[in-house]
Amino acid sequence: MDTSALFNIGYGLYVLTTRHNDTDNGCIVNTVTQVTSNPLQIAVTVNKGNYTHELIMNSCVFNVSILTTETPMFVFEHFGFQSGRTVNKFANCEAEHRAVNGVLYIPKYTNAFLACKVNNSIDFKTHTMFIADVLDAQVLSDKPSVTYDYYQNHIKPKPQPQKPSNGKRRWECKLCGYIYEGDFLPDDIECPLCKHGKEEFVEIFDAETPKQSPITTNMNQIKLTDNIFYVGVNDRRTDLFENHMELPNGVSYNSYLIVDEKVALIDPVEAGFIEEYLFKVKSVLQGRKVDYLIINHDEPDHSSSIAAVLREWPEAQVVGNAKTFAPLEAFYGPIENKKVVAEGETLSLGTHTLQFFMVPMVHWPESMVTYEQANGIVFSNDAFGGFGALNGGIFDDQVNLAFYEDDMRRYYANIVGKMAMQALKAIEKLGGLDIKMIAPSHGLVWRSNPAWVIGKYTQWSKHEGEEGVVIVYGSMHGNTGVMADIVARGAAEAGIKEVKVYDVAKTEISFIMSDIWKYKGVIIGACAHYANMFPNMNLLTHEINEFKPKSKCFGIFGGMSWSGGGVKTLAKYAEEGQWNLVAENVEVKGAPIREEDWDKLYNLGKTVAEAILKV
Ligand code: FEO
Repeated sequence: MDTSALFNIGYGLYVLTTRHNDTDNGCIVNTVTQVTSNPLQIAVTVNKGNYTHELIMNSCVFNVSILTTETPMFVFEHFGFQSGRTVNKFANCEAEHRAVNGVLYIPKYTNAFLACKVNNSIDFKTHTMFIADVLDAQVLSDKPSVTYDYYQNHIKPKPQPQKPSNGKRRWECKLCGYIYEGDFLPDDIECPLCKHGKEEFVEIFDAETPKQSPITTNMNQIKLTDNIFYVGVNDRRTDLFENHMELPNGVSYNSYLIVDEKVALIDPVEAGFIEEYLFKVKSVLQGRKVDYLIINHDEPDHSSSIAAVLREWPEAQVVGNAKTFAPLEAFYGPIENKKVVAEGETLSLGTHTLQFFMVPMVHWPESMVTYEQANGIVFSNDAFGGFGALNGGIFDDQVNLAFYEDDMRRYYANIVGKMAMQALKAIEKLGGLDIKMIAPSHGLVWRSNPAWVIGKYTQWSKHEGEEGVVIVYGSMHGNTGVMADIVARGAAEAGIKEVKVYDVAKTEISFIMSDIWKYKGVIIGACAHYANMFPNMNLLTHEINEFKPKSKCFGIFGGMSWSGGGVKTLAKYAEEGQWNLVAENVEVKGAPIREEDWDKLYNLGKTVAEAILKV
């Protein structure tokens, strides 16, 4: 996609001003649109990082001053390239240029201004659209309005050739001209001037800029041992892992490099991060080649960069097991230079010897782990992994584990949990090895206390739930939600302190599944939807029956109006999934306003709680 196509939209450029608590501020925007003429309303969208946004949120008033083609660059620099948090942009301003709403407007280089009062707003995560009544409007001159295109071609100075600094690469923000220098462009970069993100930056190449990244000896070198390096990447831009699980804290794709007489690269990364990844690998290798590319697992979050890696080091042998190559070639086409290893087989790199162990279905049939004998390191791929990008701390002793534990369990419950038996077998098999470090392909490297993560995975694989109950409801008009609160009250008064209540339409399923895995009690409620149940609940009940969490105490409730269907459908899922129902199902007609219904719901929570406390 060529986002410069959006430049062809006929944007104007405006100074957006506001005033709150005696503070005046303004910024440049290109997002002003008239939305209705009667009543006269306009809309303007503002980045939440801007100080002007913060002030408008409080004051609910703003002015739009419409810039002309005569506007000099310094006006754009004054209002657009510095923040009102650090500079008073109106320090020498004449106070008489205030509109009826008390907000300053710009009398020079403008042809009109609109004085507005916010009547509504829409949240777009990074921006807010303010919709406002126009209280007053005045024409100030007959000069033509400036367009974004005119600004780009006639006002904005053309970039001057700049010498690279210390051999660094350079990227320019297409919107404001800001230059970023570095070894690679961070995913989470935000232009300090115009607040736009990575998608607006383009790399600058000129005669003095090396197209290849400079390779230095000390950068990006994170060591597991003297000759074993972490070369993974963080993904904070993907919204949904496997396109269905939310990633509020991101995820890491870990990869490792062993540099010996031979060089082995263990599990590459998701293809979207190839540039950063290759830079890291090359910065360690200093011109050496990769001899072996170890593929512990075929899933594309690791393997999708294989073609790019092999383009860099075409002589590398791709190492996998008997089940590795058919899926891999189905994804990426023929692989010429294959090395098939068997259970327990070893591969010498010089002083390091790798040994391979199959862990089928953790996560796919071809999954295996690679054990480095000299240092006792298990490269475990998905096993012992977790969600959560690595925020500086790579090793377990560098972070607060509490931050990662929930995301690890959510990863386990939704990815590995279905194969809990196979995970247990894998843990038992690896128990025969002298494991000093566990290096998975997602999440922390367990260097100080690998026993901690082994213990957690063992607990989750054995379905050892904690004392607590998850109550999930699907409700169209709120009545089943009210019922859930009554059920929760019964559970709490019976002595359960961990009671989690979720609206299945609001909380993404992977979070609910994670807590279902964590706790012993699960109570599901659904209203009727025609003759079946609240539609969103079908996905959760499907996932419960797919993943089969064991040793749970289940309960069911729901509401009906003119037909049943909620409880009936839940009961069908319960039968199919052999849920351990420990209380009578409760179905309430209408709302829980009758005492007998209230009692039944309360007792449902209480009975499930008592069953949990007995287990
Ligand atoms: Fe991280 Fe199953 O891939």
